[in-house]
Amino acid sequence: MEEKKRVLTRRDFLMSAGGAVAGIALAGTGLGLLTPKAEGATVELPEYPWEQYFDKPLDVEKVRELGAQYYGEGNGCAEGAFRALIEELGEPFSFVPSQLMNFGKGGGVAWGTLCGAINGAAAAVSLVYGRGQGTAVIVNEIMAWYSATALPLSMENSISGSPLCHASIANWCKATGKKSSERGPRCKALTGDVAAQAALYMNQLQAGTFVPAHPMSEETKACFDCHVGGYADDTLGKMDCAPCHDGH
Ligand code: HEC
Ligand code: HEC
Repeated sequence: MEEKKRVLTRRDFLMSAGGAVAGIALAGTGLGLLTPKAEGATVELPEYPWEQYFDKPLDVEKVRELGAQYYGEGNGCAEGAFRALIEELGEPFSFVPSQLMNFGKGGGVAWGTLCGAINGAAAAVSLVYGRGQGTAVIVNEIMAWYSATALPLSMENSISGSPLCHASIANWCKATGKKSSERGPRCKALTGDVAAQAALYMNQLQAGTFVPAHPMSEETKACFDCHVGGYADDTLGKMDCAPCHDGH
């Protein structure tokens, strides 16, 4: 895979006709068109998949900073993490409107399901690897790392035990004595940390140094092997079972 990777600039994407009129005319053709920041400019997205455009290591600390910044600007955890990653990935990834992931905040507009920072970061990973193996391998590791790691890394933190926003916030309140409504600075830092972790894993996978480091616990594996596709074959999931179920 030593073939030279094509680097695209915004100019490469701009339609030669340019301007809003061309944009409107093409909008009806069914091409994958998006309107990016530049007013009136319309771009034609390159054919997907886009993995080839991820062609230089991401600046992990910059992603951490941007994730926190966008959370702080009111984007929410999911959009904040997604936006930090696609902007650091650059074009064409950055042409995708980050609002795509806004729904993920608070685990899905505050339903407390999948942590939005994971959701947004995972969406960016999926945008890079598509149906390729990278998506499942990296997102799996983000989920497992998040569940087992005291977050956020830089302040008073707690271990969630699962990728659920609900468990994550509840355990943080329990560990710190803080109220859920005081979670802003915590979720801000966590958004940066999760986006940065995704960037780190993508860099590692690209460099051939990625090694999953968070295997399922023996305890959960026993339940999993029987209940998920095994003898009982009656549920789905890789979360630790113990916080929600007693053994039997
Ligand atoms: C050897 C297979 C096997 C293993 C291992 C196993 N289970 Fe089960 N489990 C069953 C079967 C069979 C049932 C009853 C039928 C059903 O719900 O599928 C059951 C029932 C359950 C139920 C339904 C409610 C109940 O208690 O009857 C839950 C919840 C459950 N298991 C969780 C777990 C968890 C958590 C673990 C690991 C600590 C685990 N199981 C390990 C086979 C297994
Ligand atoms: C975040 C909490 C949570 C986690 C983690 C979780 N479960 Fe569940 N599980 C539930 C809920 C909620 C239900 C639905 C119970 C209901 O509606 O009665 C359920 C249902 C089940 C059932 C069917 C129960 C029944 O009454 O027949 C089984 C079996 C089960 N889970 C096994 C597992 C196993 C095995 C794991 C770990 C791999 C696991 N669960 C992890 C919350 C959880």
